[in-house]
Amino acid sequence: MKTPHLTPWRLAGLLAAAVALLLVACTKPAQPAPAGATLVLKAGSPGPVINPNIYGQFAEHLGHCIYGGVWVGPDSPIPNTRGIRNDVVAALRELHVPNVRWPGGCFADEYHWKNGIGPREQRPKMINTHWGGVVEDNSFGTHEFMDFCEQIGTQPYVCGNVGSGTVQEMMEWVEYMTSDADSPMANLRRKNGHDKPWKVPYFAVGNESWGCGGSMRPEYYADEFRRYNTFIKNYPGNRLYRVAGGSNGNDLNWTEVLMAVAAKQMNGLSLHYYTLPSGNNWQKKGSATEFDEAAWMATLRNTLHMEELLTKHSAIMDKYDPQKRVGLIVDEWGTWYDVEPGTNPGFLYQQNTLRDAIVAGLNFNLFHQHADRVAGANIAQMVNVLQTMILTDGPKMTVTPTYWVFEMYQVHQGATSLPVELTTPDYKLGDQAIPAVSASASRDAAGKVHLSLVNTDPQQPVTVTCTLEGLAAKAVTGRILTAAEMNARNTFEAPNAVKPVPFTGASLAGATLTVALPAKSVVVLEL
Ligand code: AHR
Repeated sequence: MKTPHLTPWRLAGLLAAAVALLLVACTKPAQPAPAGATLVLKAGSPGPVINPNIYGQFAEHLGHCIYGGVWVGPDSPIPNTRGIRNDVVAALRELHVPNVRWPGGCFADEYHWKNGIGPREQRPKMINTHWGGVVEDNSFGTHEFMDFCEQIGTQPYVCGNVGSGTVQEMMEWVEYMTSDADSPMANLRRKNGHDKPWKVPYFAVGNESWGCGGSMRPEYYADEFRRYNTFIKNYPGNRLYRVAGGSNGNDLNWTEVLMAVAAKQMNGLSLHYYTLPSGNNWQKKGSATEFDEAAWMATLRNTLHMEELLTKHSAIMDKYDPQKRVGLIVDEWGTWYDVEPGTNPGFLYQQNTLRDAIVAGLNFNLFHQHADRVAGANIAQMVNVLQTMILTDGPKMTVTPTYWVFEMYQVHQGATSLPVELTTPDYKLGDQAIPAVSASASRDAAGKVHLSLVNTDPQQPVTVTCTLEGLAAKAVTGRILTAAEMNARNTFEAPNAVKPVPFTGASLAGATLTVALPAKSVVVLEL
């Protein structure tokens, strides 16, 4: 066999081929490096104060929210104080809940408050026609609700009945709760064991009057709002913040008409928007726990629709109220899935996973970014219903991943918002794309700056490089909420499966903060 002649050209070619082979051998299979996000935190240009009421909650006579979740009655073996369960109160106290909206929801427009006062065994019963057709025995009424508010340290946000009530009924309820006069309703309250009036800072005139609250047209409801509102009085020592019933999500005309006709009479205008994985398919919304990445993406994309709603409704309000006196009150928000298999479809009982925690973080970041107009928000709901904080089953109780986001984010309550300029890569799935990172920041009364970050991508971490302007940070600490699985959840058997832990992925170098944000996580940093 003839040996090939090794010319210098041939030698060079062989060497080049060897180097190429070596490079191929050393390179890992194609894995796109996660793109980074950049953020400028403008601590020197403070924005509006984040109204603590953005962290409000909602407790309706629906399924096991009130009955079983809050109220077990004084004779229950479940530890309670005057009928209100102690474990739930203890968990809620940790959140510093600013207000609780009650008694509904749709239930509010069929609730007659006089049936819920006086000796409990004598209270008339009614059918809860909206929620499962169950018999409501009215054992949890005004006094019990006020006691609950005092036990958890929150303020009442009472929703009055426009749909099936009367002006007189609403007028008398406000007198019963808030008047200290020698007057018929105040004396009835005294007879029922409560001498001094309560403070009721927030009062809604009806709920979803376009639907379960009376199927009204906006023009009609606007006039009704003005009429009812005329007769609910500010008794000495109590001033009502009057909330008019607002739009069903995308209905901009409702906001337009209400602002045109009744802006002067209201302090707040509500907005309801729920996140369904299926978008608008209410027949098949999707499971709370058994879902794939496509449903994860759809849920988060639909959550981010809140941004468009806040922007568009605010723009209409700006036209009529450029001073931003009237607050936009998002008094129902959260995820709405198919009920847990085997449970009453009218009870809206659903589990809660890491996906819900991400939804909560995204919504809060949006509310903070719109703090100039959003003066309140109430997650639906507090216990055992929809995107709940707490699940109970008889004496058992667990808090949910959503609870932990409320707990982590509470540092923003009443703090001054700080603008963040964010450039983020997208989280992509098929032909869908949403921003991978969401962020908001604020400075509290003690001068501490908090930066909250959400990574929507369930697979890829993101490095967020932050430039801190107007802030000489000396140290960074934080906590993270994440889990290995998208549908990780807390159960009665494993109540601590999803819980925040200290976060060590943030480092400071002068004015640069670098955050290694893990996939599907919520992080709150303190600077
Ligand atoms: O939160 C459940 C229901 O959703 C409320 O009762 C109603 O206002 C809304 O349609």
